[in-house]
Amino acid sequence: MERTFLMVKPDGVQRGLIGEVITRFERRGFKMVASRFERLPDARVMEHYAEHVQKPFFPGLKAYITSGPCFMMVWEGKDIVKISRDMIGATNPAGAAPGTIRGDFALEIGMNVIHGSDSVETANREIAIHFKPEELVSYTRIDEQYLY
Ligand code: TYD
Ligand code: MG
Repeated sequence: MERTFLMVKPDGVQRGLIGEVITRFERRGFKMVASRFERLPDARVMEHYAEHVQKPFFPGLKAYITSGPCFMMVWEGKDIVKISRDMIGATNPAGAAPGTIRGDFALEIGMNVIHGSDSVETANREIAIHFKPEELVSYTRIDEQYLY
């Protein structure tokens, strides 16, 4: 089953949105298989955002993402990478559709509540950066027979 890496960013944590985010993914039928609450060390931020390290917005992004704890998760389910990106909404919340997480809860690109992997390849890379294989826990949702 496909997996993705999701992370409630410090603004989302500090605004009390962890539960809201988890609820949306649970209700959709997805399954959380790992989580950790932590303040990201600089080295892991560089690795996670390797594609952005040279960009002009990176210093601000790094300061923001390390400003407080993040809620890190791995989720599982059919087509979860694409569907979770749709549920999260556009990078810039100003253009994120209502009903998406960013479209419902954010205003600024620099504080957009949540991160989600943008492809299956990225998801596997990001899961490996933040979690050890033994931290991923497998189980069966009681409603899986109605989801699949
Ligand atoms: P990106 O990977 O392009 O977006 P997404 O989170 O939707 O995959 O960028 C990573 C984060 O960097 C983004 O969530 C917010 C921040 N960012 C800025 O602060 N300014 C920018 O111009 C961009 C493109 C991103
Ligand atoms: Mg991205």
